[in-house]
Formats: sequence, C-alpha cells, structure tokens
Amino acid sequence: MVYDVYERPLLDLRMSVTDRCNFRCTYCMPNIEGQTYCFMNREQLMTFEEMERFARLFVKLGVRKIRLTGGEPLLRKNIDVLVAMLTNIDGVHDVSLTTNGFFLKKYAQKLKDAGMKRVNVSLDALDNTIFTKMNGVGVRSEHILEGIDAALAEGLHVKVNMVVKKGLNDHEILPMAYFFKKKGVTLRFIEFMDVGSLNGWKLDDVVTSKQIYNIISEHMPLEPIAPSHVGEVAKRYRYVGTNVEVGFISSVSAAFCSDCTRSRLSADGKLYTCLFATNGTDLLSMMRAGASDEQLISCIECVWRKRVDRYSEERGKQTTWNGKRIEMSYIGG
Ligand code: GTP
Ligand code: 5AD
Ligand code: SF4
Ligand code: SF4
Repeated sequence: MVYDVYERPLLDLRMSVTDRCNFRCTYCMPNIEGQTYCFMNREQLMTFEEMERFARLFVKLGVRKIRLTGGEPLLRKNIDVLVAMLTNIDGVHDVSLTTNGFFLKKYAQKLKDAGMKRVNVSLDALDNTIFTKMNGVGVRSEHILEGIDAALAEGLHVKVNMVVKKGLNDHEILPMAYFFKKKGVTLRFIEFMDVGSLNGWKLDDVVTSKQIYNIISEHMPLEPIAPSHVGEVAKRYRYVGTNVEVGFISSVSAAFCSDCTRSRLSADGKLYTCLFATNGTDLLSMMRAGASDEQLISCIECVWRKRVDRYSEERGKQTTWNGKRIEMSYIGG
C-alpha cells in the first residue's frame, strides 16, 4: 500500500477511456457560441492492452476499485472487452462505470457478461423541457430511463447521479426522489462543482446538500446509514420504512478530501492526483518509450507519496474562479 503526505492510501483508479461525449451538459461541456471542443486523436488514447497493464500496476500498489469514465465511456468501441480484461485481474474487487446512459440499452447485457456488477448513470431531470436543455443535445429522459431499465433487467446495480443547479433543475428534486424511490433505485444528488473553466460556476448556483435534504425530508423522512467504505463520496440515507437509499455528494459545502483515495488516468494516460489538478504525469509516454513495470510502479509511487491535493477543502469560501482549469471531460469525472 502507498500513502500520500496526509496518510491517504491509493485505493481507487478512475480511468477515462475517451474525452469525447455525445452530450453537452451545461455544467460540464456547455454549448457556447464560438467554443469548439478539441478532442484527442486515436493514437493518443490508451489502448485496452495499455489500460490493462496500468490497472495491474495500480493493483500492485493497493488499488482495489476501478471506475471507467470519460467523456462518455460507452462511446469507446467494444468497451465490454476492456471490462472483461479488468474484471479478470486478480485483486480487482470492483469494476464499474459512470455513464450518461445514452448507449446503456445497447451495452447492458455485454457489460454484465463481461463481469460488471454495477453502473452509475447521470440523469438531471425527468421533465424534458429541463433535461433536454441540460444535456444540450435534446436527448429525452425516457431514453435514459430505458437504459436504466435495461441495466436493471440484467441484474446490474444502478445508482443515478443528479447534478443540481439552482434555477435550472431544483424543481426536479422532489419528482426525481419520488420516482426513484418508487423504482427502488438509489438517487444521489450532486452539488454543482467548480470544476473546469467553461461552465460559468458561481457559488450562488449551488443548491447545497442540506437544502436538498430539507426539501426531501419534509415529504419523505430519511434516516442515515453508515458509509459502505472509507472515503465514500456520498453521504447515505434511507427513506424511513424502506430499503431504498438516497445519497448526497457535497463537494462544495462539505468537502471530502481528507479521505480521498482516488487517482485518475486521463484517456491519454496522464496520472492526476486530484479532480482539480492542473498537471498530470505522462505515464503513457513512459510506457510507450519502453519503461519496465518496476519503473512505472516506482513513478506512480513517487507521485502518490508527494501528493498534497485537497482542492475542495482549500477553496473554502471562494465564490468565483477566473483562471484556467482542466475540464472534467478531459481528466475523467
Ligand atoms: P461509487 O461511490 O463507487 O459508486 O462511485 P462515485 O460516486 O465515486 O463515482 P461517480 O463517478 O458516480 O461520481 C459521482 C460524483 O461524485 C461525480 O460527479 C463527482 O461530482 C463526485 N466525485 C467523485 N469523485 C470525486 C472526487 O474525487 N472529488 C470531488 N470533488 N468530487 C468527486
Ligand atoms: N459539478 C458536479 N458534477 C458534475 N459532473 C460533471 N460536471 C459536474 C459539475 N460541474 C458529474 C456528472 C456525472 C459525474 C461523472 O460527474 O453528472 O454524474
Ligand atoms: Fe458528457 Fe458526462 Fe460531461 Fe455530460 S457530464 S457532457 S454526459 S461527460
Ligand atoms: Fe480528492 Fe481533489 Fe476531490 Fe479533494 S478535490 S476529494 S483531493 S479529487
């Protein structure tokens, strides 16, 4: 096991498999006039074999959980083949994926067959006036719900992520809570974060977990449940009298850096030790230049030992940000 400066072990690897996305969510890759997104070339992307090799090296250092992200991970061709390669690695306990759900119907069975047990699906509203506006490309909520149903039908465990932005989808908090409670699916509310520099983030746009908790518990009482593992990003609750869970991810109002065990590999193989990092370590170039497993492991170890990131805790009450920051779609959510 390897620990950083604040004694946080390296336990999770979030691998971005592509920086491309078929959505243009307002809080992530907004449609802005004059803004074009410049994506990586195919040759820049890690191959499945390279990702598998990285995964094995991270496992040697203590990683037990791997999450595939993007961009939109289901845009990567034959992603189920990669999933099978990762679930077959000894020491990997959990391989999952965070998706916008658009291609989930097509992939649910393949993912299940490849050994995946669970997926996290983003859905910000049921009301299509709001949802089509938020995803930026006119996709309707029914389409994502079909993907969720396909995943459930395969026996995949599904958690739904809803990013809440004030004045945009806060009216959807209760309808979403009622809907997923009835469906028996965990819904997690995510505070709109100041990640990247294109989403025009302002503190005023954040609806805090506390506010969301109050809105829900006025109608449906909640009781807390213990975290399922150390460093879990969501605070978990259960609707009283049921087994249905609801979660709150409070990266702005109650940062969770103190037990952050997450490393990130961008789709071009750079290692980032924080979602808000500006510089990554180019592991893929080292690998392609012929570095041995030992050399790569020692590089990862060295980066982690020096890690001091705790961005969300440090940003404190800062309400705006004018500097350049890396986009979440690049680094992998
Ligand atoms: P599980 O709990 O294992 O299901 O996964 P997860 O919640 O860590 O993964 P997911 O990709 O679904 O992340 C949900 C949200 O948590 C993301 O949208 C981020 O907003 C937030 N998040 C995840 N990891 C971090 C992190 O390291 N830092 C911050 N600030 N936010 C994070
Ligand atoms: N704030 C909070 N969550 C975000 N996500 C993307 N951008 C932001 C942001 N600015 C979420 C997506 C998805 C996860 C990977 O990250 O909704 O659930
Ligand atoms: Fe795509 Fe996810 Fe970003 Fe939305 S949040 S634009 S679905 S990567
Ligand atoms: Fe971890 Fe950085 Fe997120 Fe804090 S802000 S929880 S250190 S990724």
